[in-house]
Amino acid sequence: MEKVAVQLGQRSYPIVIAPELLSSALAVPELSMLWRYKKVAIISNPTVAALYLPNIRQLFAQQQVIEFLLPDGEAYKNLQSFEQVNSFLLENGMPRDALLVALGGGVIGDLTGFVAACYQRGTAFLQIPTTLLSQVDSSVGGKTAVNHPLGKNMIGAFNQPQAVLIDTQVLSSLPKREFAAGMAEVIKYGLLGDAEFFVWLEQHQLAIAELQEPQLSQMISHCCQMKADIVSRDETEQGERALLNLGHTFGHAIEAWLGYGEWLHGEAVAVGMMMAFELAASRGWVHANDVIRVRALLQAFALPVAPPKGMQIADFMPYMKTDKKVKDGRMRFILPKTLGLAIIVDDVTETELQQVFAG
Ligand SMILES: NC(=O)c1ccc[n+]([C@@H]2O[C@H](COP(=O)([O-])OP(=O)(O)OC[C@H]3O[C@@H](n4cnc5c(N)ncnc54)[C@H](O)[C@@H]3O)[C@@H](O)[C@H]2O)c1
Ligand SMILES: [Zn+2]
Repeated sequence: MEKVAVQLGQRSYPIVIAPELLSSALAVPELSMLWRYKKVAIISNPTVAALYLPNIRQLFAQQQVIEFLLPDGEAYKNLQSFEQVNSFLLENGMPRDALLVALGGGVIGDLTGFVAACYQRGTAFLQIPTTLLSQVDSSVGGKTAVNHPLGKNMIGAFNQPQAVLIDTQVLSSLPKREFAAGMAEVIKYGLLGDAEFFVWLEQHQLAIAELQEPQLSQMISHCCQMKADIVSRDETEQGERALLNLGHTFGHAIEAWLGYGEWLHGEAVAVGMMMAFELAASRGWVHANDVIRVRALLQAFALPVAPPKGMQIADFMPYMKTDKKVKDGRMRFILPKTLGLAIIVDDVTETELQQVFAG
């Protein structure tokens, strides 16, 4: 069993990671506060509920539990679902001192976390992330949100959970493509701040692809630890936390150009990281051999490493110029200085991008 403590003063919380944790959580001392809530509302979707809701009911067998399922999909991470969940909680008389449980991937986690931030001005919530992406990324760090027709994640709040419960066994039911998309974010941690972890991933890629333990738990724990460290130094993204966006400026442009949902987020981020490495290589920051290694590791998980057919640098520009990270009119990119050390730069011009990526 792996444990990571997210240090945020009064808002500190534990992340517990283990295969079959959904069957053994009651015995984990760090989680004992969870069983004290008298009323619990579980929020999930039909896909995940069919697989894992019975386990969660078991965990809260002594409590009064209500359940609400939203339809599956990013399209439901919106204000309408937000209102539906709030109405459901009110209609069932959920008090302020109840516990909301998010059981699912990042969509359910982000939405439930945002409801928890707002319901009666704030209720406690527990994250039970069930995708690799949500286990290594969205469930850690307290960013919660819903989408607006005018932009993704545009309405939200920073809100930390009481705990994060990660059962690595649940990844066995996750579609392979979703697992790979999560691996893009895992590889990102190595690239942005931990060359040793990148080497570890190269060495254990086969075991990880086969979901072998203890490697799988170790990998997830390492990512949570890295994100927790970054978040405790920069909770509201004033500086260092932006490094977690490595590959995301290019990646968001790809997602938006294709139309959201065509490629998975992690797939677009994989290409974005490749582009960041190619740009950095042309500046002489990383070696050509590093670019080859990054490409090989992404490809080992069947991730794409080049933009979609027909997408030119000019197609990236409108999205990158309106990115959330644009400051004072300058595009900001996260680029690798070396393999395992990323920095924020704001001097990338369209001309440079044309030179590196044309042809
Ligand atoms: N808050 C943050 O810091 C943060 C960070 C990154 C991403 N996000 C958000 O996360 C969301 C994406 O999350 P996601 O990739 O987990 O997508 P998701 O929640 O849509 O899950 C992907 C699919 O896998 C299914 N699924 C989940 N667990 C499963 C399991 N164990 N077995 C079988 N199927 C399972 C889901 O039902 C869904 O169909 C986006 O909305 C994104 O904005 C948030
Ligand atoms: Zn991401």
